[in-house]
Amino acid sequence: MAKVTVVGAGAVGTTCADALARKGFLKEVVLLDIKEGLAEGKAMDIMQTSALYGFNTIVTGSTSDYSKTAGSDVVVITSGLPRKPGMTREELISVNAGIVKTVTENILMHSPKAFIVMISNPLDTMTYLAYTHFKLPRNRIIGMGGLLDSSRFKYNLSQTLGCSPNDLHANVIGGHGDTTMIPLPRFSTLNGIPVTRFISEDKMKEIVSATMVGGATLTKLLGTSAWYAPGAAAATVVEAIVLDQKKTFPCCVALKGEYGMNDICIGVPVTLGKKGVEKIVTLRLSNDEKEALQKSADAVRNMNDVLKTMV
Ligand code: 2OP
Repeated sequence: MAKVTVVGAGAVGTTCADALARKGFLKEVVLLDIKEGLAEGKAMDIMQTSALYGFNTIVTGSTSDYSKTAGSDVVVITSGLPRKPGMTREELISVNAGIVKTVTENILMHSPKAFIVMISNPLDTMTYLAYTHFKLPRNRIIGMGGLLDSSRFKYNLSQTLGCSPNDLHANVIGGHGDTTMIPLPRFSTLNGIPVTRFISEDKMKEIVSATMVGGATLTKLLGTSAWYAPGAAAATVVEAIVLDQKKTFPCCVALKGEYGMNDICIGVPVTLGKKGVEKIVTLRLSNDEKEALQKSADAVRNMNDVLKTMV
């Protein structure tokens, strides 16, 4: 059975550790934070639910002691500041780049073969940072943005369709940003039936816009960024890898020629299994969709250029 570390015992990290524990397929989850006692406290609180939920996963906490994370199969990185209302994810780059770099360095020192699941924002640039700075093979570094955004898209579609989100397949590709993500109605179905058959073009435009600002809407309501869906999305990525599920959904990964792009990490559909990213699925995009992906990639590259001036 596998060991997973979650770095950052804030709301997202704790939700992820809790989701992983409840799923019950791991031997151990280590929650690590720099704030004295926080990870230990959160871990103990989660462990006190084990008799209630009936899981056997051991969750432990650590204050900055990376030796406790040694031998992790997968590491989820949530470290850094969350956004405040009115902020874009991109504005977090100056603080979060340094934090993510230090965390990844410490993680790889103790778990040199671990798969890394990135949550920290700006997601595409933080994934790119870990990929390029540490020269990781691309199958081992995965940003969870596309899965989160696709889940939000499914929820929004289900509200209009009056159906279960579980009966929907939906794809959001591109960057994980308010203006860079690309919900794809043409690649979204209700039990195999294109959702475009049931929803008017105008209504679909509303659903697409609501999905794109899904994170910002929650940030406005909560005063900080969301945690349940981001934590659950990362736990789902971990599960697909550890259980070798061969599940296909959008994630942020490094492209090497796919979609005509190189030297970028961006959201596209991938198949995840025990080798991490096992396949990159190339969708047959329309000209408009291709143009949107190109624009999204340009914006992600601009952020990556900012990163290059910093680290
Ligand atoms: C979100 O979209 C945290 O970026 C994350 O909620």
